[in-house]
Amino acid sequence: MKKRLIYSLVLPALILAWGQCMAAISTQNLRCEMLDNPRGIDAVHPRLSWEITGDGRDINQTAYQVLVASTPAKLAANVGDLWDSRKVVSGESIMINYAGKPLISRATCYWKVKIWTNKGESAWSQTASWTEGLLNAADWKAKWIGYDHGFPWDSVSKFSRLSARYYRKQFNASRSIKKATVYIVGLGHYELFINGQAIGNQVLSTPPTDYTRSVIYNTFDVTKNIKQGANAIAATLGNGRFFTMRPKYKPQKIKEFGFPKMLLQLELEYTDGAKQLIVSDGSWKFTADGPIRTNNEYDGEEYDATKEFPGWNNTGFNDSKWLKPELVAAPGGKLVAQMNEPIRVVGTVKPIAIKPLSPGIYIMDMGQNMAGWLNIKVKGPRGQKVQLRYAETVKEDGELSVANLRDAKVTDVYTLKGGSQESWHPVFVYHGFRYVEIVNYPGTPTVDDFEGQVVNDDLENTGHFETSSTLINKIYRNAQWGIQANYKGMPLDCPQRNERMPWLADHATGSYSESFVFDNAKLYAKWLDDIEQAQKPDGALPDVAPAYWNYYSDNMTWPGTYLQVADMLYHQYGDVRPIAKHYASMKKWLAYMKLKYMKDYVLTKDKYGDWCMPPESPELIHSKDPARTTDGELIASAYYFKMLGLMEGFAKVLNKPQDVKEFVALSAHIKSTFNQKFFNAQTQQYSNNTVTANLLPMYFDMVPQASRPAVAKSIQDKILIANTGHISTGVIGTQWLMRGLTNQGHADIAWHLATNTDYPSWGYMVNKGATTFWELWNGDTADPSMNSRNHVMLLGDLLVWFYEDLAGIKSNPEHPAFKQLIMKPQAVDGLNFVNASYHSIHGLISSDWKKQDGKFNWKLSIPANTSALVYVPAKTAGEVTESGKKAVAAEGVKYLRMEGNCAVFEVSSGNYEFESNN
Ligand code: BGC
Repeated sequence: MKKRLIYSLVLPALILAWGQCMAAISTQNLRCEMLDNPRGIDAVHPRLSWEITGDGRDINQTAYQVLVASTPAKLAANVGDLWDSRKVVSGESIMINYAGKPLISRATCYWKVKIWTNKGESAWSQTASWTEGLLNAADWKAKWIGYDHGFPWDSVSKFSRLSARYYRKQFNASRSIKKATVYIVGLGHYELFINGQAIGNQVLSTPPTDYTRSVIYNTFDVTKNIKQGANAIAATLGNGRFFTMRPKYKPQKIKEFGFPKMLLQLELEYTDGAKQLIVSDGSWKFTADGPIRTNNEYDGEEYDATKEFPGWNNTGFNDSKWLKPELVAAPGGKLVAQMNEPIRVVGTVKPIAIKPLSPGIYIMDMGQNMAGWLNIKVKGPRGQKVQLRYAETVKEDGELSVANLRDAKVTDVYTLKGGSQESWHPVFVYHGFRYVEIVNYPGTPTVDDFEGQVVNDDLENTGHFETSSTLINKIYRNAQWGIQANYKGMPLDCPQRNERMPWLADHATGSYSESFVFDNAKLYAKWLDDIEQAQKPDGALPDVAPAYWNYYSDNMTWPGTYLQVADMLYHQYGDVRPIAKHYASMKKWLAYMKLKYMKDYVLTKDKYGDWCMPPESPELIHSKDPARTTDGELIASAYYFKMLGLMEGFAKVLNKPQDVKEFVALSAHIKSTFNQKFFNAQTQQYSNNTVTANLLPMYFDMVPQASRPAVAKSIQDKILIANTGHISTGVIGTQWLMRGLTNQGHADIAWHLATNTDYPSWGYMVNKGATTFWELWNGDTADPSMNSRNHVMLLGDLLVWFYEDLAGIKSNPEHPAFKQLIMKPQAVDGLNFVNASYHSIHGLISSDWKKQDGKFNWKLSIPANTSALVYVPAKTAGEVTESGKKAVAAEGVKYLRMEGNCAVFEVSSGNYEFESNN
């Protein structure tokens, strides 16, 4: 009886407590190497991260336990046969290094996590998983196959035309299949099929590299695609960057890799334990006489549907007339797994208008400058050739304007097979375009016959940003389009002309801006590998990486992107690995530049200056006016100083105190000579007093303390008086401008520049109908030879400023990856609300403020296991309320101090609503 009584009292209470804690604390978004359930990775100590959710405020993890098992059953039974971390007392919830049994090739790892917090413990999470790829060169039994010659219809010349290569092999799977995995490298791009079915939904795979240094492979679980009995595996190869767009043209400049080739290994595991390998080798068949007659990233794709061979990628196809491939040399690079998101079709655009231009010629407007391709629907006679030519703008007479594409032909041709309706899009090229010229379409084309398909790296859209200013919202929207258009397995300068090169400085601070909009962590980690692989033995770094163009001009600003991106990855995502991995080569580069170009602590070599600053007359690309341009030695020396600062930070992270000392000592010398050489104490100006000349030393903290206010004033006067409130910076100055002004207490001037609509300004571009960003401030009037309408480099730090300073979502540099936020929104005059969110690696952050009825109202949300320093605009702390009560006494809120016009609070995780008098 007593016993029963105890049970009846205790058990429901226990169940209730357990139930509450289940509901309250949980983990989600489990990631391995910051990817969702990745397949075929090659990290042997992959890093595991999770997000924590829970009701209420102030949730902090105190411990975790990770289980990694080789089967789902073991994991379900809580047996971590690969790794049982046991309970680890730690607040870390991101980038936990796998520290279990050594992982071997092909390992499948199922994992889950359980956490303890100050508010109770979670249940075990959902199961997540990853698989390892082929970790050793010896795992590859496949042979490289290809055909190192052109065919009569190909042309290996400046305007290369090379038809796609179609490979196939039929094989017999003798028993029932337990597991089938395929590993593939198809250079430049591939499409893979098994029994007629496309494998995966990636396009333009795999990401481009310097193939002599590294070659990226993909892994697919194809268990469901293989059947007992006859099977066919097939692949189409396109040229991509492997067979370059301009072979035999300027051989000194353009790197060539050779003809398309493939390495493929299909591993079958039967239910009875037997194994079988199907590999690329001399037993395959191939043809180049198929429907894709040519594919060239600059010039377009031509597809002749009359040359289709139905069923070619399935069993039973008669390939007796096909050729035998050659066993060809490996490209030379190390085989590495793809560890960043694939390129996919990420969206569609419906054209807004289609107009006849002349008989048989129509011009279609997509309403948006985009990168991708067009899917067409067409019905007509066999053999009719429909031609699609792409451009960013049209001339006044309505014709396509192609001058800014230079010699890129950007033309797709589809030859109809005839009969019922046909539907087609290219697969091995993409275009940057808003307008399409349609020639020879049978009948009258309508917008319903076309669909724009947006093609870029399929990254999570992490940011949302909306304000009371429609102009700012448009700028943000255009930026988003521009950023994604320039992601193609590497960040590009532009997607349309005969360039499309991964120029480094275009994404220096840009990578940071972009990180608020897209989860670009893995793409940029890959890019750092590209940069390191392009380093010369003497330490020189390139201007373009992968170095498809052989440009090593030795300057600080372009290669400096290497360090800036590593810093961004650490700051935004808490990723230390790029710093550790590239530290030695970064240091080597700085030593190389010092040895070669440093004279008396001045870095004497620059190449591009403050690239693309607004010139003195509308048709110019670059200014010729020495009063407007910034001294290259000043830029280079200031950047060298900045880079040493970054290295100092990296050396601290990696615990290298001796290096810290050396960087600090050299910095001190550079700073003092810099001021002797470039600073005029009388005028309190640097060099010729351009905004960039003053801004760099200000932002990089080189200005003598006592002169800071005067130098800040020089910058402000230059903008407001000399430049009548306009921007005068180019790619370099614009990277620091908005934050620089805001740090000086002049968010109002930054706001003025951001909302300008007359030339030069971002708003000017918007008002001129831009739907992305231009390469030049004067993109509407300048010489078209270097005038892309889809460059992101002039965005500089604008988006960082949007998120960090307008929304107030900023990671504290002392606590990277948003472990602690600094939330200090600039409620400038003219801005009435900001509603923004950012999905950080710790979870979703939001900041939603408005000015209303004399009040500043701010709803914010801080992820569990993080905290924030919150700056509420107010005259006194006492006037600030939180959820209607005095903020100083609110739960989870600690009043710290008044600072300027803000009451500063330390706030733990949860949702809050602050209000103060505006
Ligand atoms: C590219 C730029 C690049 C620059 C440097 C241009 O042609 O498009 O974005 O940074 O060259 O020279």
